Amino acid sequence: MDGLTALAYRGYDSAGVAVWEGGEISLRKAKGRIDNLRAMLDKSPVSGKCGIGHTRWATHGEPSDVNSHPHTDSNKTLALVHNGIIENYLKLKEMLEKRGCVFVSETDTEVVAQLLGYLYRGNPLFALKQAVSLIEGSFALAILFADDPEAIYCTCKDSPMVLGHGDGESVVASDIPAILEYTRDVCFMQDRQIAVMRKDGISYYDEFGVSIEKTPTHIDWDVESAKKGNYEHFMMKEICEEPEAFRKTFEQYVSIKDFSLKAEKFPWDAARAKSMERLTIVSCGTAYHAGMLGKKFIEHMARLPVDVDIASEFRYSDALLKKGAPFMVISQSGETADTIAAMRRAKQLGCETMAVCNVTGSTISREAEHVLYTYAGPEIAVAATKTYLTQIIVMYLVALDLAEKRGEMTREQVAERLKKMQKVPVSMQKILDSRENIQFFASRAFAVKHVFFIGRGIDYALAMEAALKLKEISYIHSEAYAAGELKHGTIALIEDGSLVVALATQDELLPKIASNMEEVRVRGAHVLAVTNGRWEGAKGHSHEQWEIDRMDETLAPLCAIIPMQLLAYYLAVQKGCPVDQPRNLAKSVTVE
Ligand code: F6R
Repeated sequence: MDGLTALAYRGYDSAGVAVWEGGEISLRKAKGRIDNLRAMLDKSPVSGKCGIGHTRWATHGEPSDVNSHPHTDSNKTLALVHNGIIENYLKLKEMLEKRGCVFVSETDTEVVAQLLGYLYRGNPLFALKQAVSLIEGSFALAILFADDPEAIYCTCKDSPMVLGHGDGESVVASDIPAILEYTRDVCFMQDRQIAVMRKDGISYYDEFGVSIEKTPTHIDWDVESAKKGNYEHFMMKEICEEPEAFRKTFEQYVSIKDFSLKAEKFPWDAARAKSMERLTIVSCGTAYHAGMLGKKFIEHMARLPVDVDIASEFRYSDALLKKGAPFMVISQSGETADTIAAMRRAKQLGCETMAVCNVTGSTISREAEHVLYTYAGPEIAVAATKTYLTQIIVMYLVALDLAEKRGEMTREQVAERLKKMQKVPVSMQKILDSRENIQFFASRAFAVKHVFFIGRGIDYALAMEAALKLKEISYIHSEAYAAGELKHGTIALIEDGSLVVALATQDELLPKIASNMEEVRVRGAHVLAVTNGRWEGAKGHSHEQWEIDRMDETLAPLCAIIPMQLLAYYLAVQKGCPVDQPRNLAKSVTVE
């Protein structure tokens, strides 16, 4: 149950467990949050030494008790949990129904359970090998066979799976936080490998059933960092960890004694940096927004053209990329299905792949030719906060490194920027220390129906992330708009009481954004300006002004994101939303 709770951020429509108990497999399943399952188990406990559990994010079949995992075959010879999507489930279901299988749920997962039960002739490994060759799609499967009650059989394809080698116990999960309490020595499963876990060890096999050796990796994440501590929500804890995450990531890439970049940390030398014609960045959601900001940094400082695309679009696009072109993905989890597919496509096209990633051992970090890690530590809340920050830090450092190696900035100019950059966490902390002001604003504003985040240039890229953060956790309709574009249509939505947050951190663009603020103010919007130090010009055009410490304009988004995340958080709390686990969302989107 603790493991499931640690994984609740991946899905929470329903939950269930199966335990081998007194000669048979006992099942408990409940629709809704994990607490419903916990209550059911309090009333009707199970006990045993070998079990599997699941917390679901529905893809096929509505959230309900019967659609919850674990699923069994008709004879209850096995129970299994599944993460992923079985694409040929209808074909398999038809074939199994013709052979007498009676299905009870609407899920694609039950098809795997029934298929395995149908193929099973007393040898779990053999049945599993056969089943894996027949199913198409993505899957991470953990299976309990009634005939082999002290073992769990596991396999996966295009879905993450991590196995922990504990002391007198073995554990498996789809993400590290669920097993950190039990062991730090883990192996990541590769596609179609099979593992058989027993309390005294784990045996690994390749897809042909041939025994293979795997060497565990030691995970040095702090257990506490995957716990909530004294915070009401993981999201607030993770926002408060941002100054620390900033320092950690910064120090990995920058040598503090002389404020120089650690050249070896970046996957290009000067010749390669100079020869680059274009960089393509592909990612999803918040990571896409980090890419958008990265584009601004890189184009501005390194004068290298950057294309940014959404992974789900890129993977089916014409992808006109040259052989050998640099191709970067950004993904905190390293497991986002579309991002993985986009990277594989780029590899096929002969691009040089690199990844900005937060999780060592994840699929993306294993498959990319080069990895630029972010050092945010585990992020549990569904909404990305500290991982976004560390992604944009890495993008900033990438821009500086490329600028220096391409001869667009001198080493001294880079050192100057880095010196300034090192001070940003102090300014971030100031905002965190006075966060009650934002809480107070939220207590007045939480009934707002529409929020528009407007900005130009760097501020527009930041606005995109601010709008996503707000809508995903507070369910308030919000949009990001390039400030100058608003009047080409969207301004029609502005009415009395709309909230417009004007991100105005770039001096040169202030007169322009002032006009845009005025356009919405006179149409009834409540205008909040977020500024880089005091901006007297905001008076008259806005109703309030939130200032960050005055800093180099290129650095401003690294700090200005904090009040935006806090605004989203406090509005969501005021509205009584489940901040860490917003409806319909899962942390790692391992399905297409
Ligand atoms: C939003 C959020 C998502 C992720 C997106 C990509 O707060 O977290 O939009 O950014 O699902 O995830 P990763 O970075 O794991 O590839």
